[in-house]
Amino acid sequence: MRLDKFLTDAGGVSRAQAKKLIRQGAVEVNGQACRRPEEKIQEGTDQVCVQGRELAYHGLCYYMLHKPAGYVSSTVEADGPSVLRLLSGAPGKGLFPVGRLDKDTEGLLLITNDGELGHHLTSPRRHVDKTYYAEVSGEAGEEDIRAFREGVDIGEERPAGSARLVILGTQARAEGTVSQVQATVQEGRYHQVKRMFAAVGRKVLYLKRISMGSLPLDESLPKGGYRPLTEEELQRLREN
Ligand code: URA
Repeated sequence: MRLDKFLTDAGGVSRAQAKKLIRQGAVEVNGQACRRPEEKIQEGTDQVCVQGRELAYHGLCYYMLHKPAGYVSSTVEADGPSVLRLLSGAPGKGLFPVGRLDKDTEGLLLITNDGELGHHLTSPRRHVDKTYYAEVSGEAGEEDIRAFREGVDIGEERPAGSARLVILGTQARAEGTVSQVQATVQEGRYHQVKRMFAAVGRKVLYLKRISMGSLPLDESLPKGGYRPLTEEELQRLREN
């Protein structure tokens, strides 16, 4: 494995940061400074230290989690239990969730310790599709579809990027009219989907991520359940 890839996988840094650390001479392989990012090392055999600290290699793990509401997509627990609690028995060191779902959002969350894939899927430059099922207040229609396509103003310098909105149906409920929709966005800004609907005068009552790139949520997973990705799922995700 290349040295920069090892740092990315085991050290949780981006490939660019790994290259910089190596070129700065901060990385030693078997006690010798190595300044070549492309240097081949034998993971599990060669000793790699960054700024004097040894990096352990635990192998890469990939899990699909059906996130329930009530958990935070973070490794720290400032605002509630971490989704990582739901994978407490799963092998893999240094696992982290790829991208954020709000505490009350459900659905697909990829959990891995592959820093490179994590960066790849969440990088704003990559435009990876994220599709959500949502229930929103009122009767959504053509105006909403057009506004999403054109990019709504969410109160930031740049409007939200173009998004695809599909209206699945409208229901009269005790609390008022509710529309069921599917929204596909390519960005991952803070509360992105909720803010986009707020911009067209709608409140998100329920939100669930149903796919990320080529990876759909396995609906046979119960809420809170997880499973490893299959080789084929992983291969397709890498190609996104
Ligand atoms: N957009 C939101 O508003 N919330 C999420 O959890 C994900 C996308």
